[in-house]
Amino acid sequence: MTTPTTALPSLSLADTDPADLTVDAVVIGVHSQEGAEGAAGELLLASGAESIAAAFDGKLTATLALLGATGGAGEVTKLATLGTITAPVLVAVGLGGEPSGAAPAPDTLRRATAAAVRALAGAQQVALALPLSDDADDNGALTLRAVAEGAALGAYRFAGYKGKPAVGRKNPVSAVSVLVPDAKEASANAEVKRASVVTAAVARTRDWVNAPANLLRPPSFADEIAAVAGKAGLDVEVLDEKALTEGGFGGILAVGMGSAAKPRLVKLTYTPAQATTTVALIGKGITFDTGGVSIKPAQGMWEMKSDMAGAAAVASVMVAIAELKPSVAVTAYIPIAENMLSGDAYRPGDVVTMRSGKRVEVLNTDAEGRMILADAISLACEAQPDYLIETSTLTGGQVIALGKRIAGVMGSDALAQRTKAAGELVGEPTWPMPLPDEIRKSMESDVADILQVSAGMERAGHMLQGGVFLREFVAEGVQWAHIDIAGPSFHSGEATGHWSKGGTGVPVRTLVALLDDLAANG
Ligand code: BES
Ligand code: ZN
Ligand code: MN
Repeated sequence: MTTPTTALPSLSLADTDPADLTVDAVVIGVHSQEGAEGAAGELLLASGAESIAAAFDGKLTATLALLGATGGAGEVTKLATLGTITAPVLVAVGLGGEPSGAAPAPDTLRRATAAAVRALAGAQQVALALPLSDDADDNGALTLRAVAEGAALGAYRFAGYKGKPAVGRKNPVSAVSVLVPDAKEASANAEVKRASVVTAAVARTRDWVNAPANLLRPPSFADEIAAVAGKAGLDVEVLDEKALTEGGFGGILAVGMGSAAKPRLVKLTYTPAQATTTVALIGKGITFDTGGVSIKPAQGMWEMKSDMAGAAAVASVMVAIAELKPSVAVTAYIPIAENMLSGDAYRPGDVVTMRSGKRVEVLNTDAEGRMILADAISLACEAQPDYLIETSTLTGGQVIALGKRIAGVMGSDALAQRTKAAGELVGEPTWPMPLPDEIRKSMESDVADILQVSAGMERAGHMLQGGVFLREFVAEGVQWAHIDIAGPSFHSGEATGHWSKGGTGVPVRTLVALLDDLAANG
């Protein structure tokens, strides 16, 4: 069974009066305004809502307030329009306090738009009359980008595998038009096109992450990646267990041979004509992480079906750039394995000869991600890329240190800073973490070149141990970044903002933004 792919709503631009549009619903923004001392706050309509306010004869804010609207960020208030405007439903979405600039922050818009579109499930066509910055600078484009992305992602819902649809379940919105001053403007159209491609990559990542591990094992995951990448026009190469053995990929084999579904390494190549900068992208593809012989507790283990989120993101980003065509040459190396227990599973104490020739002493089979990633990093460095960007659900330590929203980034200082900047631009926060010498010292092995984790499985600096280990396999002269997404790649709670339950698609939008930066600035 191949993973179901979620189609997001079509996105378009419109520049007619939102009060006259024949759509199922129109969305406007409302801000909260602090009242004078002791007084109740007042509701303020955001720009874009002018003609609708006029159609309501000055009674719109009072009506919304009566329905409980406060303007709090992401709050959704629905109202029947009863002929005041053409659309039968009006939605006011809260955008928080009035912004100091021309429009709210892009991320506020992204989350609020997503909340409104999600709340409109059951409607087909929706128009968004939201406050966009008309600055010609970046921030102008970023507000439109945020609204378009939020609209698409708010409609994401994993298809699942139900025999018959759940009772009362309404279909997500299928078409969204964003109101702008000039719907023919080339740059605005380019933003919407970009948002469609990027959100499709996010949706594909979520679909793969949400797929259960019995239906997405290493060979079938590799096949699915190969199929979509081939269709996108990328060069595709898949190494199976035989090729991995011949190539000396000891780390991938050690982890992967414990499963009856054997490991793979997928290589995808995007080569634009004029590019001078070369980038390697790597993503962790553990289709299920039992922990192996160092087995995980049963509680919550099912979430380890998401341990291939890095691989899913990298593969989806490759498909996106095949369409967006940034001027940078990118090769993806995606190691895929299932971390299981069996008579062939690797054990604590094993010494593994890696692709690079380095010998690793294993202390905990649950630190499997670094074993498969190290081999992929070695292979990537054989082609001497300018930059190497790797992302993985690597450590629970990331969640302890930075929580469920902020990814950890380790690596070369300059690239780590550029990763952080790219994340900030798109609303996927990351935070740079150090690679301390004493952590490396704690990984000295008596019998091999390096320990896989700190001696005695010391958990101090847990996330950093992962980064320090991976650094051993990065070739001299390659700028690198390791993005630990253990927390932010999977959302266990109910849908919120542009995040649905389950896979989030982090860090797809960061990677696309970072590749844009590398294409533009080298
Ligand atoms: N896949 C896990 C990390 C993880 C934890 C991802 C929670 C998402 C949510 C990884 O393979 C793992 O098991 N890491 C161990 C490393 C330890 C054994 C050194 C961990 O974090 O406990
Ligand atoms: Zn893992
Ligand atoms: Mn593990």
